[in-house]
Amino acid sequence: MQKFATSLNRLTTAKDQLFRRCRCYSQLAQRQSSAEESGESGVRVPILPAFDYSPPLYDGPTAEEILKKRKEFLSPSMFCFYKKPLNIVHGKMQYLFDENGRRFLDGFGGIATVNCGHCHPDVVQAIIKQTTTLQHSTILYLNHSIADFAAALAAKMPGDLKVVFFTNSGTEANELAMMIARLYTGCQDIISLRNAYHGNAAGTMGATAQSNWKFNVVQNGVHHAINPDPYRGVFGYDGEKYAKDVEDLIQFGTSGQVAGFIFEAIQGVGGIVELAPNYLPPVYNSIKKAGGLVIADEVQSGFARTGTNFWGFQNQGIVPDIVTMAKGIGNGIPLGAVVTTPEIANVLTRRNYFNTFGGNPVCTAAGHAVLKVIERENLQENAHVVGSYLKERLTALKDKHEIIGDVRGRGLILGVELVTDRKLKTPAKTEILEIMEKMKDLGVLVGKGGFQGNVFRITPPLCFTKEDADFLVDAMDYSMSKL
Ligand SMILES: Cc1ncc(COP(=O)(O)O)c(C=O)c1O
Repeated sequence: MQKFATSLNRLTTAKDQLFRRCRCYSQLAQRQSSAEESGESGVRVPILPAFDYSPPLYDGPTAEEILKKRKEFLSPSMFCFYKKPLNIVHGKMQYLFDENGRRFLDGFGGIATVNCGHCHPDVVQAIIKQTTTLQHSTILYLNHSIADFAAALAAKMPGDLKVVFFTNSGTEANELAMMIARLYTGCQDIISLRNAYHGNAAGTMGATAQSNWKFNVVQNGVHHAINPDPYRGVFGYDGEKYAKDVEDLIQFGTSGQVAGFIFEAIQGVGGIVELAPNYLPPVYNSIKKAGGLVIADEVQSGFARTGTNFWGFQNQGIVPDIVTMAKGIGNGIPLGAVVTTPEIANVLTRRNYFNTFGGNPVCTAAGHAVLKVIERENLQENAHVVGSYLKERLTALKDKHEIIGDVRGRGLILGVELVTDRKLKTPAKTEILEIMEKMKDLGVLVGKGGFQGNVFRITPPLCFTKEDADFLVDAMDYSMSKL
């Protein structure tokens, strides 16, 4: 190892370029830095699991060049992770590669999106095949791609949920779902949860309930119930007590009749908050009594991510009236969907409802391939097995590091909340940035969220292995010990 490190240092630029074409450049390069650090401090630095793959040589613009252009030509509202933003140029299953060929373990999955793994060959092939056959025609003509995928998606749904509308994003899916609920019930009032994120267009920004994601524009017709947050909520894990607030909102905040209730089974942007157990069944009853529809937003928790079930809402045993989805549906292809019953879907025949790209053959071909990969590769089972193992290891880390206030979630949608005082639950907002930066230096990328920005969001591709889980936890452990 030592010998290798020395000879690697001697490589000239030209040789270095040649070397980059060799297998596992990034892995060996990291071993070198690990060995050096280990020598200095005597602390063992975690090492990326082996992965027999080398990305092609990158000869595009550098991170600095891209950043300069981005600053000049793109919206100033766009932000990046890390002090020195990463230029990610290649992806392969659960790994990402930067411009120098350095490999990173992807613990965020493009924000809970790349469920099958980066550039999964089957999904790529489906996209190529459809693109070279017919890229776009609109739904004004027949094409089998949209119909085949709709039928396959409907087969994954419980009850009478079998009519699919395709959209281009999660926001658009939730906008449509809320409009359908309003049309069907003839009511305007929708109940959402505090700390929710449902999108950023006119209606969905109303349903989103975190001030840092809401602009000061008209957002009416949404009431926000107390969040059934087991860690920070006043009733802890008692879902039934939180459910009473929905009943109260209906009685005291509306005419007694509502259009619906929208929820994420596990709040993603809000910091991986799983709704307290036994919350949804009583809420479902209150909403039904008030004539409303129940909308499950499965944008983050759907497509096998929770491991125990294909959809997040199934973990609390209810069947919603409308289910919305995006992100994982296309493994990174822009695609969303709303699924509901034939009776409810009928309201859209009152006028024309159409969008140019929804149900595009390339996107639906990708979506269909995703379903097949999840099934064939047992990704739900893997999310359950590896996710449970990862959660166990993260929970054990809590005994070692006082900064960990809570470990939560299920399957491969996990959260680690950092606090500077466990009793007061003071958000560790600056410390999380430092740890995240150190983890990145070790080769692990994780997400961050929660209203106070103090929660690690771990939502990797569902092909994550136990070795990957060990590496992620070891890197977090190491980074926390260096605080
Ligand atoms: C639960 C949930 N719903 C809806 C959305 C909006 O999806 P999109 O960004 O595709 O519009 C998001 C995005 O993060 C989300 O997490």
